[in-house]
Amino acid sequence: MGSLHVLAIAPSDDVVAQLDSELRQAGFRPEIERVEEAATLAAQLKVQRFDLAVVAAQLPRFSAASALEVVQSSPQGDLPVVVMSEDLDLTTAVELMHRGAYDFVATQEALRLGPVIRRALAEGEGRRQQLSDRQALRESNQRLREALSGTVHAIAKAVEARDPYTAGHQRRVAQLAEALAWGLGLDPDRVEGVRLGAAIHDIGKITIPAELLTKPSTLSPIEFEVIKTHTGVGQEILGDISFPWPVAEMVHHHHERLDGSGYPLGLQGGQIGLEARIVGVADVVEAMLSYRPYRPAKTLEEAMEEIRTGRGVKYDAGVVDVCRDLFGSERFEFESQF
Ligand SMILES: [Fe+2]
Repeated sequence: MGSLHVLAIAPSDDVVAQLDSELRQAGFRPEIERVEEAATLAAQLKVQRFDLAVVAAQLPRFSAASALEVVQSSPQGDLPVVVMSEDLDLTTAVELMHRGAYDFVATQEALRLGPVIRRALAEGEGRRQQLSDRQALRESNQRLREALSGTVHAIAKAVEARDPYTAGHQRRVAQLAEALAWGLGLDPDRVEGVRLGAAIHDIGKITIPAELLTKPSTLSPIEFEVIKTHTGVGQEILGDISFPWPVAEMVHHHHERLDGSGYPLGLQGGQIGLEARIVGVADVVEAMLSYRPYRPAKTLEEAMEEIRTGRGVKYDAGVVDVCRDLFGSERFEFESQF
């Protein structure tokens, strides 16, 4: 067994000598560093790694409770702390343990010190392992999210490569949808879902003939029916992927309208999730502001007027308000050109 690095917060070297002999009797090879005031305690915790801290309950310069606080707010905040006291004062013992002390040992109970320290060390090790496991899990989650986001963007590019007029459309819709989601006060995780869903909302267009997507004149009713299938196709492509967000639903429902006038299902009101309502508004606004072969781009005023007219009828009122506010206050601008 290696050395046991002990930080003793004690008023005199006598306490250290006693601690040293008791730890040796209990089978440890202690290396003890003594401090007796807050500043040296904090400094020592920064420069040296300890296995354990032992605090004397009676300290002339500061209290055991403050010593606990200094340890807990240091880089070694998970260090097990055992309190040693000349007399066993139950009230103090309970209070210190409430504040995070691992155990309380009376100096005359020297025999108890070994087992207490062994348990404290085992528990401290367990706690450190738990923290490092949690950290590893967080990192692996982060990597997965990055991979997921990279894959989604690769898919978006594949769709856009076939269709120059909507190239960049999904990216800009994602940018606006994200701003709308923030403006609506959604939590960061939900905002991320909205951004990803918007970035591939037209993925179903991958099965639509390119000449239809790029047709320089107005579509016939039959051709429009074909275009409309992109929402269902998108849902089929993504439906089996268990995203942590309603991505397939956003793709499937982004052309649904509150009054039931949308497609493909003619859903109404509450049947359309908030995420899909956000993508829906971002999609129409971006589309109106951009040039299409069969029509010129609309002005910002015209686009804002269209969503104002449809507010609460076709489009979610809250989403429309945030959108008009973003453009009206010039707090939003598309990053890439149309
Ligand atoms: Fe679409």
